[in-house]
Amino acid sequence: MGDAARRWAELQSGRGIPPEILAAAPASPWTHNPVDFTAPETPADTPSRDAALALLGDGGTVLDVGCGGGDATFALVGPLRAATGVDQQQDMLDLFTTGAAARGIAAGTVQGKWPDVASGVDGLHDVVVSHHVLHNVVDLPPFLDALTAGAARGVVVEMLPQHPMAWLDPLWERFHDLHRPPSATDADAVAVLAELGITPEVRRFVRERRHPHDPAWVTRRLCLPDERTPEVEAAMAGVPLRDPDAVTLTWTV
Ligand SMILES: C[S@@+](CC[C@H](N)C(=O)[O-])C[C@H]1O[C@@H](n2cnc3c(N)ncnc32)[C@H](O)[C@@H]1O
Repeated sequence: MGDAARRWAELQSGRGIPPEILAAAPASPWTHNPVDFTAPETPADTPSRDAALALLGDGGTVLDVGCGGGDATFALVGPLRAATGVDQQQDMLDLFTTGAAARGIAAGTVQGKWPDVASGVDGLHDVVVSHHVLHNVVDLPPFLDALTAGAARGVVVEMLPQHPMAWLDPLWERFHDLHRPPSATDADAVAVLAELGITPEVRRFVRERRHPHDPAWVTRRLCLPDERTPEVEAAMAGVPLRDPDAVTLTWTV
C-alpha cells in the first residue's frame, strides 16, 4: 500500500464511532434513509453530469456504484441506453429500480459492497459513476481500481472536499468528549489515484444542499436519544452547516 492510501485508511479509520457509544445508540447512526436520496425530476446541472454526458456522447451504458436513488444515473437520461446500480442497501436498489422504470430506462441491480461484488456486474459499462461514496471507504485502491476496470470509456467520481459528517465534529466533542482526527479530503483521494497511475481532471463546484440537517437527524447521527434533540438544536446554533462545495474527479481508461 502506498503512503497516500495508508494516510487515507488511517484518517477514515479514525472517524469510527467507539463501540461503547455505538452500543448505547438507540438507532443506527449509519443507515441512509432512501427517502433522502430520491433523484429529482430535473437533474442538477453539475460538472459531474457534464463530464458523464461528454463520455457518453451519442449514447452508452452506465454503472453507478453506491447508486442510492440513482441521482447520478438519472441525470444522464437522453444518451443513457441502460444502467446498472450497485448498492449495499437493498432499499436503495428498490428506489433505483423504480426510478429507472418511471424514466423508461432498462436497469439492473447488484446488491452488496463494492468492490467485493464487482464480479457480479455483467461486462463493461461505457461510463462508471460513483457519487458520494468515497468517504465511506477505508481501503481506497481496490475500490478505485474496480471502478476503472468496469469502464469502457471513463469514470466520474463526485465527492465532498471533506467527510460529509466532519461538520459534526464539534458536536461529538460537546456531547461525547470525542476528539476526531481531521477528515480525509479530495486532495487525499487525488493522491491515492496518483499512486494508481491516474491523474484525474478535478472540478470544484457549489451544489445545492439536498440532505437533512435538522436537529432530529443530527441527534441520531450523534448516537443520542430523541429526547436530547432540543439540546442538540441549541448546540447546532454554534456550529457552521456543512460546506456546500463538491468536487468532480474524471478520468478516462
Ligand atoms: C451518500 S449515498 C449517495 C447515493 C448516490 N450516489 C447519490 O449521490 O445520491 C452513498 C450510497 O453508497 C452506498 N454505499 C456506501 N459504500 C458502499 C460500498 N462499498 N458498496 C456499495 N454501496 C455502498 C450506500 O448504501 C448509499 O446508498
